[in-house]
Amino acid sequence: MKNNLHAEYRKIFNKEAENAYFSPGRVNLIGEHIDYNGGLVMPCAITFGTYVLASVNDEGVFRFRSLNFDDKLDIPLQQGYSKTKEHWYNYPLGIIDYFLKQHNELKGLDLLFYGDIPISSGLSSSASIEVVTAYMLNDLFECGYSKLELVQLSKEVENEFIGVNCGIMDQFAVAFGEKDKALMLNCDSLEYKAVDSNLGEYCLAIINTNKPRKLAESKYNERVQECQAALKALQQELDIQNLCDIDAATFRKYQHLIEDTTVLKRATHVIEENDRVKQAAEALAAHDLNEFGRLMYASHDSLKNLYEVSGKELDAIAEYGKTNPDVAGARMTGAGFGGCGIALVKQNGFDRFSKGMIEYYTAKIGYAPSVYSSSIGDGVGVLKELANS
Ligand code: GLA
Repeated sequence: MKNNLHAEYRKIFNKEAENAYFSPGRVNLIGEHIDYNGGLVMPCAITFGTYVLASVNDEGVFRFRSLNFDDKLDIPLQQGYSKTKEHWYNYPLGIIDYFLKQHNELKGLDLLFYGDIPISSGLSSSASIEVVTAYMLNDLFECGYSKLELVQLSKEVENEFIGVNCGIMDQFAVAFGEKDKALMLNCDSLEYKAVDSNLGEYCLAIINTNKPRKLAESKYNERVQECQAALKALQQELDIQNLCDIDAATFRKYQHLIEDTTVLKRATHVIEENDRVKQAAEALAAHDLNEFGRLMYASHDSLKNLYEVSGKELDAIAEYGKTNPDVAGARMTGAGFGGCGIALVKQNGFDRFSKGMIEYYTAKIGYAPSVYSSSIGDGVGVLKELANS
């Protein structure tokens, strides 16, 4: 499909698309549910993502079309849009709304979107479509935002317009991702390093649970609130801005300040996970993939038992990993409640892994997962290679 985008555009709009852009999705290697607590995360951009083809029109209308969804929208250029139901076009509409509120001079656009990120898979299709739209508007209308500003405004749209109180990891990863690199991102200072994701004899597998994600957004916002409650309790005695400002040893000294046992479990995950990311970075730098894998399993167990965002489908992925000697580690990735798991698998054992995973998961869950071998790709940009197809 992605090779026919220009032809599809012509069919729909009866004219040529003058511009084309791409933003990837992401996986997070480790550091889960800590971006909104000012922690360290280690995401990378993948080669699946969102494409948008665009041409300016003279009618002052935004036309949204998608090759993935039937619903479409034609809406005049005006101040002040709001989210309607669960339509896919809420994401680009929210970005346009933001640009207009900031008094950017936009014109009408005929837009065709296409995504090859599996839908509802937790690989950040929403950050991908937000960032690609923001990048496109900035490029077409010379609005002058830096890439970091595009990331920040996309996150703000997700928080305010869409209503999910996500952290900055996904938007950052899909914008700043680099081929064959993982990003070590400090979500408080926004300083980052692109580190070699040299996996040696291993490769990264993505396993989609194919479980429809329900209630994910409300559960996500609930976790954010629980972390805020933990922070407030600790602030009675500690001068901190984020949960991740303290390490596990300091936390043990002050955890008695948190009375609610659920809130205590959430905070324990956050603080220990942040420490694990630091250890994982050292393991990666030392090419110690076994240690990296051990930390992935520990991360999964914590997300299952303390943060309670896993589920039998994601657990089955980690469980199967432990039975296969070609797997160094496995865990859920992203928000949880369904979505995807990842595994570090020996390249020459990948086919066995894929077959074994499908068998194990299907026997346990009742339907099959999808297994992909993933490459790490670049972040958002102009799409040159499709420009003339
Ligand atoms: C979602 C959010 C991110 C992050 C992850 C969990 O992907 O969008 O900000 O919180 O969940 O690590």
